Amino acid sequence: MDEHDDLELQKEKEKTQRQVKAEKRKQTVRNQILILALAVIVVTAGLVFGLTRVNGKESSDIAEGGAASGEELMAAAGEEDWEMTEVLSYETFAEGDAERETIEAGHVWEDLPKMDVLVSVCPHGLDWTAYSPDNRCVLAPVNSYLTGMKATLRNQPDMSGTVQYSVNVSGYGWIDWVEDTALAGGESTDTTIEAVCMQLSGELADYYDILYSVYQNGVWTDWVRNGEEAGESGVGLRVDGIRASVSRKWPGEESYAGEINPALPMVALTYDDGPSKSVTPRILDKLESVGGRATFFMVGEQVERNPDVVNRMVQMGCEVGNHTFDHTEMTKLTQQELTEEIQRTSQVIYDCTGIRPLIVRPPGGAETDSGMDVLGFLSMPAILWSVDTRDWKTRDAAQTINTVLTTVQDGDIVLMHDLYDATGDASMTIIDELVARGYQLVTVSELSAYRGGLEPEKSYMSFRRPVN
Ligand code: NI
Repeated sequence: MDEHDDLELQKEKEKTQRQVKAEKRKQTVRNQILILALAVIVVTAGLVFGLTRVNGKESSDIAEGGAASGEELMAAAGEEDWEMTEVLSYETFAEGDAERETIEAGHVWEDLPKMDVLVSVCPHGLDWTAYSPDNRCVLAPVNSYLTGMKATLRNQPDMSGTVQYSVNVSGYGWIDWVEDTALAGGESTDTTIEAVCMQLSGELADYYDILYSVYQNGVWTDWVRNGEEAGESGVGLRVDGIRASVSRKWPGEESYAGEINPALPMVALTYDDGPSKSVTPRILDKLESVGGRATFFMVGEQVERNPDVVNRMVQMGCEVGNHTFDHTEMTKLTQQELTEEIQRTSQVIYDCTGIRPLIVRPPGGAETDSGMDVLGFLSMPAILWSVDTRDWKTRDAAQTINTVLTTVQDGDIVLMHDLYDATGDASMTIIDELVARGYQLVTVSELSAYRGGLEPEKSYMSFRRPVN
């Protein structure tokens, strides 16, 4: 064997060694992935078991009528399992260089902005509604139905793609997909929509899910996503309402409309009679610091005085509700006068924010049959409350805090008034404590969307889970 052959042999040997090493590295990575996958399965199974176990427990808590303690709620929510799953996902990002593709497909949660889908509908014989925010119920008035829809995105990150949608029109079947603000279906037509499909295109589809549901035959259908059909077509049923939401994709996790986990407890804080210049911004600051939202039932004349505050609410994902223009009770108004009170207030809020309120809180909680007929015609459900703090009367932060924290349950609507410093003070403690107890602070529309939805002409006091 000469020197040349020796060198060749040596190179050959090194090559073989490199191949063996590379193969070993691959094997190690495969093993790591396998272990990780097993860990994910185990944790997921644990989570599912935890949730199943707890659901039964929660129901019994509600049946007993007592407010569940913080610990019970945390346990009920499977909070610890949830945390573990999150941590696991982060470790996947940090350690799994070999799995860069998966990581990029999953993106890192914090980097992705929350994106919203806005929906506008054309009820039969009426004008298009204003675009309604993400995860809201957009309804046709009583005895009407939807003939067309449009959708668009808000807060879109620097990615290709847009929102696309198609509707099934009675007598015609599925209409070609259209996108971003284009009309699907018809206007000035008698033909009704029977089902709806929505999807995201381009890069957006890799990073976000779009979820949606329709109001059909008196119920909201289960959420479907990413091009699936919502509603049953071809059986003579029409679509009377639509709700849609965009959610960030979280690797290994389910995505939820409004990014609210329906398995975890939630409460809707509501503030009436404002907004005010001093108290409302404090409450918004606090909500923002914990990632929470609330619903503000506002009187039109206060909105005109504080447009900046109202705009901030909308930007934070809070819900703007209608509380009449000058706080006159339904019992003191003719149908015509009530219609004007409601419409004038909705118009003021719309002019200020581009958002039209979808729900009303009758001043004083007073309801009359003729007044409810008006709300039905305007397709605006009435929202009452299940926790009454009487903050307007006591003006005592400690009492307000005590009332909320000793009685609040999953699904409750809490009534407060953002006019009083004491209510602002109380909100600081209430918001922190509810979050510490594991509650998601959601809007009334978000809460209702997970607990049976809203119907026009009806009024609601709470959205507690049904007792089994
Ligand atoms: Ni009021």
